[in-house]
Amino acid sequence: MAFNIYFKKVGYVYQPNSPFEFKALTDISLSINKASVTAIIGHTGSGKSTLLQHLNALIKPTSGVVKIGGQEISNKTNNKNLKYLRQKVGIVFQFSEAQLFEETVLKDVAFGPQNFGFSKEEAEIKARFALKQVGIAKELFNRSPFELSGGQMRRVAIAGILAINPDILVLDEPTTGLDPKGKMEMMAMFYRLHKKYKTTLVLVSHSMDDVVYFADFVYVLEKGKVIKAGTPAEIFADSSWLKEKQIELPTAGKFSLKLQEKGIKFKQLPLTIEELTNQLVDYIFYKQENINE
Ligand SMILES: Nc1ncnc2c1ncn2[C@@H]1O[C@H](COP(=O)(O)OP(=O)(O)OP(=O)(O)O)[C@@H](O)[C@H]1O
Ligand SMILES: [Mg+2]
Repeated sequence: MAFNIYFKKVGYVYQPNSPFEFKALTDISLSINKASVTAIIGHTGSGKSTLLQHLNALIKPTSGVVKIGGQEISNKTNNKNLKYLRQKVGIVFQFSEAQLFEETVLKDVAFGPQNFGFSKEEAEIKARFALKQVGIAKELFNRSPFELSGGQMRRVAIAGILAINPDILVLDEPTTGLDPKGKMEMMAMFYRLHKKYKTTLVLVSHSMDDVVYFADFVYVLEKGKVIKAGTPAEIFADSSWLKEKQIELPTAGKFSLKLQEKGIKFKQLPLTIEELTNQLVDYIFYKQENINE
């Protein structure tokens, strides 16, 4: 059972009534459709991680309400009522490998399901399945997670989240620090999960290529506020706005812009390699036909 997510006028203040008081989110209203891939982008410090932590009530709004399925989360919500939500929403934090702690890989991944009431045997079945999904070989299951490479540790930590079968997977820059191949494999793995189980993905990424290839919808944050919302095509449509906000185009978009500056006329600025290829082929053949006539 997947859920829509709603934020209604959510504000969040860190360390209120202290000299360090900081208003990280202001008046955030947004919705995230179930079974969608929604990207949250914005500069460092714009409030992305703060927003994500509301999704399983790790932090609660200082003002306003978050609604996920039947559950409402406000500053009055009691922690006792959150276990169900925490099973439905899995958060993969930046550098999630820092949370590994068990003696073996298998025990670490089985910890989540056991914590949610599954028997040791059931939890291990879930753990084995999750480890397979992230591409960790059986030979590593009984090793200490701390004897693995950084990329393997990241995969094990992610398996720990997948093992609880979340309906909503929240990804805070999940591929940071991985090599290009590792980044691609990991994003492809999340996307496979999304396609196969209709898992809702909420993705924070600084990679505009990830945004344009994977996201259905995008929210742009600036200083704790949503300054733009739309499909990737809508977000990347206005080059001068992007320049003003110092938001990069995806790689194919940057290349297309250079081609446009040299006089190639696109119907619409291509944002992916596929769009660029198709439009270039159309353009070249159209020109040739006109020359031949
Ligand atoms: N525990 C805290 N106490 C006080 N201020 C904090 C705390 N955590 C974050 N902040 C501040 O809140 C703002 C938003 O932080 P947040 O981590 O949500 O940003 P972000 O968009 O995720 O940035 P990044 O891209 O660097 O991860 C920042 O200005 C940050 O300094
Ligand atoms: Mg962050």
